[in-house]
Amino acid sequence: MAEITVTEHLLLYQKKSPHATGMFTGLLYDLILSAKIISRRIAKAGLLDILGGTGEINVQGENVQKLDDIANNILTWRMERCGALCAMSSEENAELIRIRPDFPRGDYILIFDPLDGSSNIDVNINVGTIFSILRRPHGNSGDATLEEVLQPGANQVAAGYVLYGPSTMLVFSTGQGVHGFTLDPGVGEFLLSHPNMRIPSQGSIYSVNEGNRKNWSKATREVVDWFHTCRSRDGKIYSSRYVGALVADFHRTLVNGGIYMYPADSAKPQGKLRLMCEAAPLAFLAEQAAGCASDGRGRILERVPEQLHARTPLFIGSADDVAAVERIYGKYEKS
Ligand code: AHG
Ligand code: MN
Ligand code: MN
Repeated sequence: MAEITVTEHLLLYQKKSPHATGMFTGLLYDLILSAKIISRRIAKAGLLDILGGTGEINVQGENVQKLDDIANNILTWRMERCGALCAMSSEENAELIRIRPDFPRGDYILIFDPLDGSSNIDVNINVGTIFSILRRPHGNSGDATLEEVLQPGANQVAAGYVLYGPSTMLVFSTGQGVHGFTLDPGVGEFLLSHPNMRIPSQGSIYSVNEGNRKNWSKATREVVDWFHTCRSRDGKIYSSRYVGALVADFHRTLVNGGIYMYPADSAKPQGKLRLMCEAAPLAFLAEQAAGCASDGRGRILERVPEQLHARTPLFIGSADDVAAVERIYGKYEKS
């Protein structure tokens, strides 16, 4: 099989798309380089003194792991120098990250979760990086304002993730389907391994933290009970899988089909997952791969974030499975 690097793939698509510019390709190139550097650090995590927490609590009220900080610093350092951005936002920073005035800037806005599933790192289980790229309204210049950043996910020009698993994978979309690349450590390049990824219209796996059941509403219990009892079209009983790292759970869902759910509950009335750096980028990928992403009522991609760290319930994966969830919640809303 011909081996296509992610850079070759980007250049090919740049030629095909009238909107793609060298600046955009350069942005993705620097993002991919950052991911390779993070991947190298994670691969040595058990050998270096980089496991465990920093002792700090982040804006989300969660313990900051040393690797959260390392991944955040690697991304922030390189991306603020890339020349394509007018603002960044990270899960780990309360406010927008401004581009230093002496650095060149462009029209793009980068939003990221530097290390997703970081509570898994000490037990050597998959973690990831999630990214979302928006463009500021045409004609504006200087630092992007918060209003320019708070855009619905439907406006994303690209989104994706890097999964640091048994192999490191990059999966992304620029609005022309979803493509997956595997890092070949010998060559130091991501090579195209999963062209045109598509989520099956129905799966036979559901993924949810059932430890939260005591806090679920009646409607949410009925949603999960549906997957306990229903069968796939080929007669399979649904199995349960839950890694506890959204990137890993989503990646399995993208490849095998099924549904990942993080509903709201009485302890987390808005849900747990972050709309801008977690739910929206994965929703963009799901839709580009013929799947769906919903907050239980409607499309995640239509949600306009009211703040940088807005949270949302998330139901994402096979179209038929997500439709079943909306049907059950819809029944409760009517009654
Ligand atoms: P992060 O490590 O970036 O804070 O994200 C953790 C998220 C997500 O990765 C995962 O799916 C979810 O938290 C797991 O939450 P529970 O432990 O509550 O199931
Ligand atoms: Mn996360
Ligand atoms: Mn994180």
